[in-house]
Amino acid sequence: MLQAIKYNQGNLEILDQLQLPFVEKYIPIKSAEDGWHAIKDMKVRGAPAIAIVAMLALSAELHLLRAANNVSESPEEIRNLIVTKLDYLVTSRPTAVNLSDAARKLSTLTTTQATRPGVTGPEIVESFIQAAQEMLGKDLEDNQRIGHHGAEWIMTHATKSDTVSVLTHCNTGSLATSGYGTALGVIRSLSSKNVLRHAYCTETRPYNQGSRLTAFELVHDKIPATLITDSMAAALLADAKVGVGAIVVGADRVAANGDTANKIGTYGLAVLAKHHGIKFLVAAPLTTIDLATSSGSDIIIEQRPESEVTSIKGPRDGTEATDTVVLDTVRIAAPGIGVWNPAFDITPAALIDGIITEVGVVEKDPTGHFDMAGLFNNSTARS
Ligand code: MRU
Repeated sequence: MLQAIKYNQGNLEILDQLQLPFVEKYIPIKSAEDGWHAIKDMKVRGAPAIAIVAMLALSAELHLLRAANNVSESPEEIRNLIVTKLDYLVTSRPTAVNLSDAARKLSTLTTTQATRPGVTGPEIVESFIQAAQEMLGKDLEDNQRIGHHGAEWIMTHATKSDTVSVLTHCNTGSLATSGYGTALGVIRSLSSKNVLRHAYCTETRPYNQGSRLTAFELVHDKIPATLITDSMAAALLADAKVGVGAIVVGADRVAANGDTANKIGTYGLAVLAKHHGIKFLVAAPLTTIDLATSSGSDIIIEQRPESEVTSIKGPRDGTEATDTVVLDTVRIAAPGIGVWNPAFDITPAALIDGIITEVGVVEKDPTGHFDMAGLFNNSTARS
């Protein structure tokens, strides 16, 4: 399996996703500032991956401070340092809630530790480092559970045959998480159970996470798959010979009512799924569910630069992959045209059949509502 994040005792490296799928190169992240830039510049993407890289980036910085004997004994000073850096990391990208959720949890932990009688600065640092590291391992385990629950649900509800074909959007695999993936984890699980007939992935314009990252991962893991442009999805779903049984996507934030922010184009796929009577599923860990946001209209959608729509980047065709690659930028739009480039859209809960989490698949209750809050005490989750 591909590994987006390598971490060992304060040494953090991430696979530079700006160079994929042409060059597999790891870059070191030694500080919160390095982490902020890696996230902002899209060297690492995907809701769970950016949260984990942010927390481990600060861990890496704390490790270095400790190695240089520069950790203050004062709990208050260390608390302020950690909380200030967490607040800064959260400003790197606005839509995915995993980042602010992770920062909030570690901020609370740090503040609680700092009030313990007799606690020292180095002890607070140690508890932060431990907690950040645990997030890495937990995300991987959660994804494996998501994969399992999603595959079981699909085989029960989305196909009458022994196998199923699935369409996915954007990148939700090992590269977007600490490993295995969410929506792509469901596809991986179907494949490992030998029930995946075929996977389809969209190109995911304008940033091409699908053609650059998901396609790369599907080829890497030898999962039978085909790439389509986003505009081909309707025709694919209409083709009875293809027989897509389900669309599975990831999420950047799921509101308390189930409305889901995910990569631009997700909403359109959900509308298509409804029209064609195909199951539409969101796969996301509980860290992506934001009970503090009541509905999709409260989610901030990141606006991205015009250049992502008006030009594309890549090596010249036929360039041999080496340890570095020169990426050319090619303009593909008429100069002077105005551009709208929201990075995400909101899929209304009404169009979603199920939300696959690590504790099971949530379906709507008889009144047509998702009980997302109930998920946290595991009462409505079904696998
Ligand atoms: O802009 P990106 O590449 O960070 O967007 C990624 C997505 O929208 C993913 O679908 C989402 O974060 C889920 S990743 C498991």
